[in-house]
Amino acid sequence: MNVLLTGGAGYIGSHVARVLAAAGHRCVAYDSLVKGHRQAVAGELVVADVADGQALRQALRRHAIEVVIHLAAFIEAGESVAQPGKYFQNNVLGAWTLLEAMRDCGVSKIVFSSTAAVYGQPSRLPIEEADALAPVNPYGASKVCVEYMLRAYAEAHGIGCVSLRYFNVAGADPAGDIGEAHEPETHLVPRVLQVALGAAAAVEIFGDDYDTPDGTCIRDYIHVTDLAAAHVLALGAIRASQVRVYNLGNGEGFSVKQVIQTCRQATGHPIPAKVAPRRAGDPLRLVASSAKAAAELSWRPKFPDLATIVEHAWAWHRNHPRGYA
Ligand code: UFG
Repeated sequence: MNVLLTGGAGYIGSHVARVLAAAGHRCVAYDSLVKGHRQAVAGELVVADVADGQALRQALRRHAIEVVIHLAAFIEAGESVAQPGKYFQNNVLGAWTLLEAMRDCGVSKIVFSSTAAVYGQPSRLPIEEADALAPVNPYGASKVCVEYMLRAYAEAHGIGCVSLRYFNVAGADPAGDIGEAHEPETHLVPRVLQVALGAAAAVEIFGDDYDTPDGTCIRDYIHVTDLAAAHVLALGAIRASQVRVYNLGNGEGFSVKQVIQTCRQATGHPIPAKVAPRRAGDPLRLVASSAKAAAELSWRPKFPDLATIVEHAWAWHRNHPRGYA
């Protein structure tokens, strides 16, 4: 299929592009390069913003796009608490602009990058797709807004959508030439590995007084290549006028301290850690049930264990200590 991949120069986007190409799809990346990296794109790239409806229409028509995979968004939960407007504008208005452009151009299929943050602080684990949506930060709220918008467009205009709710994405393509490179970096695994590279003296643990076994927050980590593979499977699951939703995680929770320990083992570096205040908008525990993705998409993660995820991340960071710079 001809696929327009918004956010295609980003961390997840570059991995999705690679898996799409390997599966025989034609992928056109669409990225403003505000956060993305030109060097992460192997194929075609349109440099434009998702807020630019005209550029979107042009890209959809020029490349005879049949389906859009929409990843372009701001993604930092902590930042979204301080700057909610930035998140609602980029994430919600961006998705609305895209949907209107798709309607104008007769493109009726979309895969949407959603998030575990839509659940907020879940009342039970593992989280299933039908569980309550109750985001605890504006980032999660912006993604909930888009999911509601997609439902309305599905019903009114026949758009078919698969919404993938990512848990904590980490790791890098095993080939070692693409990986995570955010500026500034806020995510746990790369921040811990930066200490092993000597870029920081110690990693901060944002709160060790949570109601968890070791006092630190628990997340479900998923390898970026496994996550990318789910997008290709999702293409075959799109049905007109439906929004299908799938969690993508490995079903196992790891605390911040456990992640740091796994990084120490992978790097052989002592990685000093110090406790810092809690970060605003952090849910305590997020663990996925991905049974629905396994059953309906036949999704089978290849790299489910945290040690492998960290090993691949470490291979990337060790060989690219300055990211794509
Ligand atoms: N953390 C630290 N120190 C750091 C960085 C993070 O203690 O230097 C902690 C955070 O407080 C949190 C955990 O590590 O408890 C994970 O934090 P990340 O920033 O790596 O990831 P988040 O869980 O905040 O969010 C990520 C993505 C979101 C996605 C979410 C899904 O950024 O887009 O996972 O669970 F929605």
